[in-house]
Amino acid sequence: MTLSFRNSLVTIGALLLLLGGLPLGATAQEPDTTVQAVPPPENVTSEDEDKDAPYVPTVKSVVRQMLETANVTENDVVYDLGSGDGRIPIMAAKEFGARGVGIEIDSALVAKARQKAKEAGVADMVEFRQQDFFDVDLHDATVVTLYLWPEINVKLRPKLLEDLDPGDRIVSHDFRMGEWKPERRVDAGKGNTGRETVYLWTVPETVPERLMDTTDVSTIK
Ligand SMILES: C[S@@+](CC[C@H](N)C(=O)[O-])C[C@H]1O[C@@H](n2cnc3c(N)ncnc32)[C@H](O)[C@@H]1O
Repeated sequence: MTLSFRNSLVTIGALLLLLGGLPLGATAQEPDTTVQAVPPPENVTSEDEDKDAPYVPTVKSVVRQMLETANVTENDVVYDLGSGDGRIPIMAAKEFGARGVGIEIDSALVAKARQKAKEAGVADMVEFRQQDFFDVDLHDATVVTLYLWPEINVKLRPKLLEDLDPGDRIVSHDFRMGEWKPERRVDAGKGNTGRETVYLWTVPETVPERLMDTTDVSTIK
């Protein structure tokens, strides 16, 4: 992942936002009706330019929908890739009894998440690591949550399919995974950017070769 690629993603997002909002969730496989999830311009900071996705928190009702859609229980280990203020791992622990792991590149957000976990009384059930999610070992996860960009989901796809076990689940807020058709698409109601959508995939026993290839990233508009 080059710095210029990261910069261009955030710049494109900010440009689309200024142009009035185009659906970033669209892929070639089906028309997408979701509302794009980009922050208001004043929230795009210079720090965001080094990231693969800017910081935009998922509203709590949508977080709950993501965890319910993945059927999270106390037997799960939920990894949130790009965990922001930690709200997904924290709710996974507090309301679903799961163990939560947040991977976040921004040190200030990692500190905030750790503080919020203490305040929520789940510091012993969650862990926040300052790390690039492309470098993280996901073998321990049974559920992975994403709120990133369509292109980044596709780039993460081989890693998810390699590290996770058959039966493990992936849920994504608003953005799909290129050619990997979701098994469920749930209308999660009103969120901070309009109507929100949650997508669910389960890792199959046999992974089709085409899903290990990320060239379909070029077909994502
Ligand atoms: C759209 S926010 C989602 C935050 C949180 N998951 C939620 O749903 O509320 C994306 C997050 O990914 C983080 N991020 C971006 N690129 C990253 C990378 N390469 N590795 C780890 N975190 C990253 C950003 O700092 C930001 O907090």
